Amino acid sequence: MTRTRTPLIAGNCKMNGLVAASMGLAAELAARATDAARAGSLKAEILLCPPATLLAEVGRLVAGSPIVTGGQDCHAETAGAFTGDISAEMLADIGCRYAIVGHSERRSLHGESDADVLAKASAALRAGLGAIVCVGETAAERDGGEALAVVERQVRGSVPSTSDAVVVAYEPIWAIGTGRTASPADIGEVHSHLRAVLKDHLGPKGNEVRILYGGSVKAGNAAAILATADVDGALVGGASLKADDFWGIVTAL
Ligand code: 13P
Repeated sequence: MTRTRTPLIAGNCKMNGLVAASMGLAAELAARATDAARAGSLKAEILLCPPATLLAEVGRLVAGSPIVTGGQDCHAETAGAFTGDISAEMLADIGCRYAIVGHSERRSLHGESDADVLAKASAALRAGLGAIVCVGETAAERDGGEALAVVERQVRGSVPSTSDAVVVAYEPIWAIGTGRTASPADIGEVHSHLRAVLKDHLGPKGNEVRILYGGSVKAGNAAAILATADVDGALVGGASLKADDFWGIVTAL
């Protein structure tokens, strides 16, 4: 398959990882990515999003390797009285290149609306980061035939229309952490709809935006998913916590 967009394989470690395990994982992945880049076989940009406590240290460790780092969330404001929050500028300050925003766990557990996610994505862009905006339907919405309408509404409401430094991650909620993946046919249908919506929302720049799939991506199912039209990479949760599992996805391209 000829690709016009560089694939992005992103690991979202969520609230997992103490120092020893996370640093070991990052060191192992940095070594493998460096070797693959030297051999000319690295086909993707690789992003690690460890917990905030480890972002600076992981960033220092992977510096000089093909791996970049990103935050799992950011606040919409630059600075201020927001206890516990982290701004996009703070992420950029420690060398992050991306911020994930609007993950379904943030939308559901922290009550984030499309407007909140739009503000966070705009903040990431303001700080010079790539904004990875997550969208995805619940099982009930899929069963009700609403999946395309739901993700379209989320894209129109939460993706800034001003920049192509955005990445959209389609993560059907029923496939996250469940071992159930969407079929390549279902993924293809949603991604092709998202592509059309992005072209309408962003103009020609919509063709440059990478659309990732996330939801129980593993080394064993990655090749079929990544070979699907308009799938430009993966947002990986559980399988990003072990070097062999994550690397199996990177090399499935
Ligand atoms: P899993 O890969 O564990 O299903 O998680 C997907 C996800 O939510 C990544 O952001």
